Amino acid sequence: MKTSITFAIFLTLSIFSLTGAQAKVPIDEQFRVVNEGDYTDYSPIEYSADVRGFRPFNDNFRLCFYNTTPNAYTLALRIGNRAQESTLRWVWEANRDSPVKEDATLTFGEDGNLVLAEADGRVVWQTNTANKNAVGIKIFENGNMVIYDSNGKFLWQSFDSPTDTLLVGQSLKANGQNKLVSRRSPSVNTNGPYSLVMEAKKLVLYYTTNKTPKPIAYYEYEFFTKITQLQSMTFQAVEDSDTTWGLHMEGVDSGSQFNVSTFLSRPKHNATLSFLRLESDGNVRVWSYSTSASSTAWDVTYTAFTNANTDGNDECRLAEHCGEFGLCKTGQCNACPSDKGLLGWDEATCKTPSLTSCDPKTFHYFKIEGADSFMTKYNGGSSTTEKACGDKCTRDCKCLGFFYNRKSSRCWLGYELKTLTRTGDASLVAYVKAPNANKNSALAI
Ligand SMILES: *[C@@H]1O[C@H](CO)[C@@H](O)[C@H](O)[C@H]1NC(C)=O
Ligand SMILES: *[C@@H]1O[C@H](CO)[C@@H](O)[C@H](O)[C@H]1NC(C)=O
Repeated sequence: MKTSITFAIFLTLSIFSLTGAQAKVPIDEQFRVVNEGDYTDYSPIEYSADVRGFRPFNDNFRLCFYNTTPNAYTLALRIGNRAQESTLRWVWEANRDSPVKEDATLTFGEDGNLVLAEADGRVVWQTNTANKNAVGIKIFENGNMVIYDSNGKFLWQSFDSPTDTLLVGQSLKANGQNKLVSRRSPSVNTNGPYSLVMEAKKLVLYYTTNKTPKPIAYYEYEFFTKITQLQSMTFQAVEDSDTTWGLHMEGVDSGSQFNVSTFLSRPKHNATLSFLRLESDGNVRVWSYSTSASSTAWDVTYTAFTNANTDGNDECRLAEHCGEFGLCKTGQCNACPSDKGLLGWDEATCKTPSLTSCDPKTFHYFKIEGADSFMTKYNGGSSTTEKACGDKCTRDCKCLGFFYNRKSSRCWLGYELKTLTRTGDASLVAYVKAPNANKNSALAI
């Protein structure tokens, strides 16, 4: 008897928790959008996209479908106010690399799950918030789209899944998404080769290629404090006392009681509506939206690689700035190195020489004096002689050439050559493998 009462109580409780305690999304908070019909936004739109906007939205943000090629749609949040006819830009996306087609659906139903599905029902993306007592979805003024429960607790937030962009207040996290990945190109929304990674002790830009086992670092942010173990790195805009706004990346470090920070820029207008993005060219830019800033309402208020940069961090340091191969000076691709000398640069034709075999009898090196690679500054290289450096490259089939610093006696093997920087410093030399047809020249630049 006793056991059956306990059982009955247990049964009652479990029925209660399965039904009675379960909050539902109220009808007027639910929606189902079909990706069809007219395009809704006719302002200039980033990536020259076609856009269908719907809910949720607020003054400056709206959830939309956009495409850059027909019938391949990304579900994304855009920033910008249509009324001002300035460019609308994309700051968050759900389904990079898995575009949906016409008639795909986005559903926020009674169960509180936000689901993107193809017309045939195949689920492409979802927030996994079904039956967690969600009662609504909204976009905050800072651009964070959240699904929340009746206590206001966030069950899901777009800020937790950045792709290539951080809005003000958004973070990279050690126990979450710790990196941004560039898109392939303005028109192609797949993963590109560049990434911005928050590691234990640093914030690093990498170039990823299938020719090297590990990505190649091409930039590191400077922090003037010792870092122990980064937990998060947040893009911040803080109003300074004197009406300027300071843009920073602010890190929480478990080893210190104060945050660590790296300064980005100090715009002279309200920069609260800014975003930092690792763009398809490998550069990092901050775009700030302010109608008081300029007639187009957008200013680029920070650029990692600028051609006016005095530390040599100009666009020549971006691996694919000159496409497959090219010699670059202050951001300009101006020569195509070859064993016949320096030829005019042309993106379509300038290529790393292709070798017929890795037998050393079938190739030679041509030398470019005063040339440097994007990889030398943030990768130590090995300490060896110029001759030994060359021998190492000769023995290594995948080595396309090598870089040598005669002052520091350091050697870097080039598995990718891509963009070379013309430095005018003769202690930096590049050697490029070329097939034996017409050997001889040494190029001095
Ligand atoms: C450190 O940074 C985090 C994230 O930006 C912020 O929430 C926190 O208040 C900061 N702490 C201090 C001591 O400034
Ligand atoms: C800066 O802009 C934000 C967003 O438009 C606004 O909420 C905030 O009040 C502004 N701050 C100042 C000091 O004007």
